[in-house]
Amino acid sequence: MTTKLLSSALDHFSRHAKDHLQDLKDLVRIPSVSFPGFDASPVMACAEAVATLLRKHRLNDVRVLTTTAGYPSVFGQWVGAPGGPTLLLYAHYDVQPIGKEGLWKTPPFEPSERDGRLYGRGASDDKGGVMMHLAAISSWLQSAGKLPVNVKVLIEGEEEVGSGNLEQLLREHVRLLAADAVVIADSENFETGMPSLTASLRGIVTVTVEVRSLSSSVHSGTWGGPLPDPVLALAGMLATLVDDQGRPAIPGLQDKVRALSPRDKASLDNLPFDEAVYRKQSRILEGADIIGGPGTVYEKMWYRPSITVNAIEASSRKQAANIINDAAWARVGIRIVPDMDPVETLGLLKNHLVQQAPWGVQVTVSPESPSRWWRTDTDGPVFEAALKALELGYGRKPVITGAGGSIPFVQTITEALGGVPALLFGVGDPYAANHSENESLVIADWESACRSLIHLFAELGERK
Ligand code: BES
Ligand code: MN
Repeated sequence: MTTKLLSSALDHFSRHAKDHLQDLKDLVRIPSVSFPGFDASPVMACAEAVATLLRKHRLNDVRVLTTTAGYPSVFGQWVGAPGGPTLLLYAHYDVQPIGKEGLWKTPPFEPSERDGRLYGRGASDDKGGVMMHLAAISSWLQSAGKLPVNVKVLIEGEEEVGSGNLEQLLREHVRLLAADAVVIADSENFETGMPSLTASLRGIVTVTVEVRSLSSSVHSGTWGGPLPDPVLALAGMLATLVDDQGRPAIPGLQDKVRALSPRDKASLDNLPFDEAVYRKQSRILEGADIIGGPGTVYEKMWYRPSITVNAIEASSRKQAANIINDAAWARVGIRIVPDMDPVETLGLLKNHLVQQAPWGVQVTVSPESPSRWWRTDTDGPVFEAALKALELGYGRKPVITGAGGSIPFVQTITEALGGVPALLFGVGDPYAANHSENESLVIADWESACRSLIHLFAELGERK
């Protein structure tokens, strides 16, 4: 019975994939950048646009859920499969800023198709994920008139700024969001066309650090020599964060890093590695070294901490006059892994920066909301169902991978729901340029991901 309905849902998707892609393009047109300092109205408009799509696809109880601060999440559900399992489907509608405008080949908020890819900010991260959920639900509801499982959909609006209000939202709506498993569409395939189930995420601890030594900038000729330059002070402090191999060098930071189990090592060894491919995907320039000491790149990206300086500010290229600056500023992030504690990591980072500050300069370290790491076993029927669904959706055996990125929702929701399984598979790929210029989505992979979710509903429905 389900088989017949399943093929009607898959057929429906094939006939309507273009319409769903059109909806995705319309979402990409909305510049829903959640960063502070950006216009709030398109973000709110995007929440409304998502709510409208949920209604269009016949979800019930569609609500825009607000918290005391921050951008809303959009909720909708279809719970017409009594006795069947309930899935909570998650994605986010907010996007990163565009980076350097001049580097975009087509404007970031004008979706554009080239060579099988859809270009535009959010096409892959994560409006493609939003539409993956909606296309799969719609394909079942519009063809079979029902789903084999109950679904609840939660589309967040501030993932890219650390989901600072998510815990409050979950606390207030824990019953509304209760589910037997969560499906998170916000990760990447290991390679284009290669279905991937993500079994771990790093967490992140981010701070901004400001160094001040003068009450205003001064002429560098007149005054230079006896005065402490805040830019050199900050540069020196930042340089002590890593060793000569680029590994975190903050004392104590690595103490809690969990050693890889033999099973972890075996699964890392199973992944193909081609240095030329890696260099292309990672965009590292010829002659620049792959650093981090011994170990595979995957081990370094998924299971070890890393430190990055995201931005530095002191004067500007345009105003680069002969001055000693009054102040220098930087934003620093540490990706954390099992069993590192975010609060402890923050303390170590803060103390280290303050201790390394030379010449009595003033140092202010301000933390942002951290995200915890997440790891799961992939044993059990729910993961089996997901692997089978991915194989059917892509026509190719899936791989199990880790991820270096962070998604605050995952750890928070699985805990709130008492340790339910989380299935992470998404629409990104190593060439998607997420967070960078010319972000794009492989349209064929997005369609395969939609088909996989259509299959997953059938797989899980049959197991009830
Ligand atoms: N989709 C990414 C996270 C991701 C990247 C998962 C690659 C799996 C593979 C997400 O939108 C993101 O960028 N998250 C932020 C979270 C932070 C603000 C707490 C990140 O990782 O920087
Ligand atoms: Mn994302």
